[in-house]
Formats: sequence, C-alpha cells, structure tokens
Amino acid sequence: MKVLQVCAEIFPLLKTGGLADVAGALPAALTAAGAEPRVLLPGFAPILDGLKNADHVADLAPHGAVPGARLLYGELPAAQAWAYVIDAPALYLRDGGPYADAHQQPYADNHLRFARLGWAAAELAAGADAYWRPAVVHAHDWHAGLAPACLRAGPAAAVPSLYTVHNLAYQGQFDARHFAELGLPPGFFNVHGLEAYGQLNFMKAGLYFADRLSTVSPSYAHEIQQPEQGMGLDGLLAARAGVLHGILNGVDDTVWNPATDAHIAAPFSADKPAGKARCKADLQARLGLAADARALLFIVVSRLTEQKGLPLVLGVVDEIVARGGQFALLGEGDAVLQAAFTALAARHPGRVAVQLGYDEAQAHRLIAGADVIMVPSRFEPCGLTQLYGLAYGTLPLVRRVGGLADTVTDAALENLADGSATGFVFETFDTAGLRAGIRRAFALADMRGQWRRVQRQAMRQHHDWAQAAHAYLDLYRLMTHER
Ligand code: ADP
Ligand code: GLC
Repeated sequence: MKVLQVCAEIFPLLKTGGLADVAGALPAALTAAGAEPRVLLPGFAPILDGLKNADHVADLAPHGAVPGARLLYGELPAAQAWAYVIDAPALYLRDGGPYADAHQQPYADNHLRFARLGWAAAELAAGADAYWRPAVVHAHDWHAGLAPACLRAGPAAAVPSLYTVHNLAYQGQFDARHFAELGLPPGFFNVHGLEAYGQLNFMKAGLYFADRLSTVSPSYAHEIQQPEQGMGLDGLLAARAGVLHGILNGVDDTVWNPATDAHIAAPFSADKPAGKARCKADLQARLGLAADARALLFIVVSRLTEQKGLPLVLGVVDEIVARGGQFALLGEGDAVLQAAFTALAARHPGRVAVQLGYDEAQAHRLIAGADVIMVPSRFEPCGLTQLYGLAYGTLPLVRRVGGLADTVTDAALENLADGSATGFVFETFDTAGLRAGIRRAFALADMRGQWRRVQRQAMRQHHDWAQAAHAYLDLYRLMTHER
C-alpha cells in the first residue's frame, strides 16, 4: 500500500508541537505494518538540511497564483523516512518559524505557501514521480487541508484521501478574496466546499473533500461534533460522523523510553525503577530546587496557549508548595503566562522553577524526574505528554477531556482496588477541580505502596505506534475498496 503522508513538520527536524512527533513516528510504524509510506513536506531550511541523497524528480506546475517549484526526493535518516520535499525558497526559506515571522505574525502569503503543499500532493497522486504513485493520500492538519480539494480538482480525482485533524483550533482561515489565487475551480468556494463563514478555510477543505476523516482520539472525535468543541465546524463533522474515526496516537519508544533515554541521568523501567530517584535528584539540582527526595514534584511541559489550561495551574502552585511539594514548568508561548510563571518562581525560590523556551533534552529530564505531570487542558485532541508521563512512571494529572480522558484512569478507590488506576483525572475546568486532583495526588503519595502500584500500572500501558499504524492501514484499505 503506497501512501503519501502530507504534513508541515516532522520530528526531529522541525517541531512546533505533537504533530511533528506523530509525523516522525508514523512512517516507521506504517512500514513495520506492511505499508509503503512516503512523506511530502514543504522545503523549510531544517527539512532541506535533513534530506540526504536528494534527486530532482519533477517540476511542479503553477496553479493560479501558486508558484511552480522543484520537487526533490530523498531520505530523511533522522526521521527514518523517505520524503518528497518542495524546493521553493521564495515560499519557505524565511527568518522566523514555519508559519509565522519572528514577531509571531503569520506570513501574509500562507494561503499560497500551503496551497503549494496541497497541489504537490495532487500532482504526486497524478503521477508526477513516474516511479512511485500513491494509492492513498493522508493529509494532516490545516497546512495540508487543501490536498483533498486539489485532488478532487485535478486529474487524480480517483485517488482517495484521509484527512486527520490534530487540532481544530488552527483552521487556516484566509480572506475570501484570496480564493482566486489558489487555482481551484470557482465552484469550490461554496458552503459545499472550502468556504466557512465567508472565509477561505483550509481545514474545512480537508473535512469536506476527503473521503474519510480521522482525529487523534475517540473522545475528541465525539466532542468536535458538538458546538462547544466544534469551533464552528461541528455541523459538517456531525454530518460526516459516519466516516469520522478516532485513532489514538502512540509513543515512539525509540525516543521516549526510560530504559534507553540518553537525555536522562539514569535509566529505569517498571522492573528496575531505582534510576528514577536519581533522575529526580539530578532534575532538582539542575533546576535549583531543594534536594528533597520526599517533596512531591509536579511539572508542566507545554506550549503556553489558551488550550492548555495553565491559568488553573497558576491557581494551585501556592497550595503545592504549602503542602511541601515542588513545581517546575518548561514552556514557551503567551507572554502574560510567561510573566506570571516567572513571578511565581521568584516568590518560591527552591520550591518552584520555571524555564521558558523550547528544550527537547530538558523535556525528557522533567518527564523522567518528576512525580506528577499536569495536563489540565480546556480541550486536548490527544495529548502526548501524559503518554510520556505514563511511560516514565510520572503520574498524569489531567482533565477528563479528549485524548486525556481516553488514556488516563483516575486513582479512585474502585480503580485502586482493581489495579486499573494510572493517574489523576478531574472533571470541571476550574481551579477547584485541579485542586481536588492535587489533593488526591498528595493523599496517594502518603500511601507509598499504592503509589508504586499505580506507577507500575502506568508504565505497563502500551500506547505503541503499531496499533495506530494498523488502524490507519485498515482505513487506507477500506478507502481504496470504496472507490
Ligand atoms: P500539542 O501538540 O498540543 O502541543 P502534545 O502533548 O501532543 O501537545 O505534544 C507536545 C509535544 O511538544 C511533546 O513532545 C512535548 O514534549 C513537546 N513540548 C512542548 N513544549 C515544549 C518545550 N517547551 N520544550 C520541549 N518540548 C516541548
Ligand atoms: C495537536 C494536539 C495534541 C495532539 C497533537 C498530535 O497539536 O493539540 O493534543 O497530541 O496534535 O496529534
């Protein structure tokens, strides 16, 4: 099964969030499951740098105002993937991030930059590379949302597409006047098409034109069909519920495995847990926290955005400290949140540590050394850090929403009794809810034997990519038979 994965980032070359972790893990998992995946990516500098033995396989045509480009094919050894990369320096080589400039302003021509990605997918499906033609196109998030529309508009309309939503909060909306620049048939700017609320909407294009849809957890697949979480697209999602699937992300254990992790102070596992104490001591030393093995250490590793529920965390840190615990945050984003967490750290020297910025190695050290990882999200399509917490015996404290609800079992009495508990789950999105979770964590910590049992159960969870890869492969097969 030849399948083209279309996305904008890939771990370890370019990452702004969990999408990159998924894109980086899926090719190897699909290959192991018996598929033949290739990835299609925009030619951002780190992607071009990571591409080895590249061949120029085709010249991509212009469409409307979307410029033509050279299509390269080669290996991305760092991601264990084979990839097509769109070489278009004028579109992709810029100071700043992949989507926005150094001042966080989205690039004014993002509609063209990512329409180029969608058209490249359609051209590959139509045979741009004479030696390899995908049977299925699998597009991820708004950046690749135009691919299913371009497929329908071009000569490869018979090639089916799967569109995966990683986060409905980012839709790729543009002023309607840009529609004419995309090179799509005039009829596509329609409520039955890629128009939403008078604007161009790349995510709507994916949701409308793809044969099948998926998102990254069963709970989020349900939630986005309701107005509260549907971000304006719930009507379409509910209408397409019959072709909408929820497939949980996995953990790439070549990257996130406490027994082999090169970033952490000592290896450990469910059977040999001793190294975790060394990781905690090392982390406390690095962060300037008091060297105190008994202090319950809570962490957050997160983008600092509205989605992640961080104002709730601000409201409970004093209580964590008052109860003798410690708190550490690694994150980057919203300036107000950054300032508020920095001020908290200043108020509690030795008990609270805050590191602003993006730091892959430090993320591993926090997740290995902590006792509890907090993910109190307002919404969460899947969430990966709670899965990493489970794998490292760092109990997740999460809100019951989206993928968090699907992956963590609360340490309630009945779950402790039957051995199913893996963390702490709270219901209502408010400080009281999170505080109740924190009190349960302290209560469990007072019962050492019980904590260890929950930790072992957490580390026994296997959210491996093999399961997800087989689910995707089943869907690809289904789609090719449907056509
Ligand atoms: P999202 O994609 O919504 O940000 P996920 O939990 O799916 O949430 O994935 C987040 C990924 O980004 C994880 O791999 C996490 O470790 C990583 N991450 C988030 N913030 C940072 C940071 N400041 N430094 C390093 N890694 C981070
Ligand atoms: C998004 C979501 C996150 C998910 C990730 C990978 O960024 O916010 O919940 O884990 O995509 O699918």
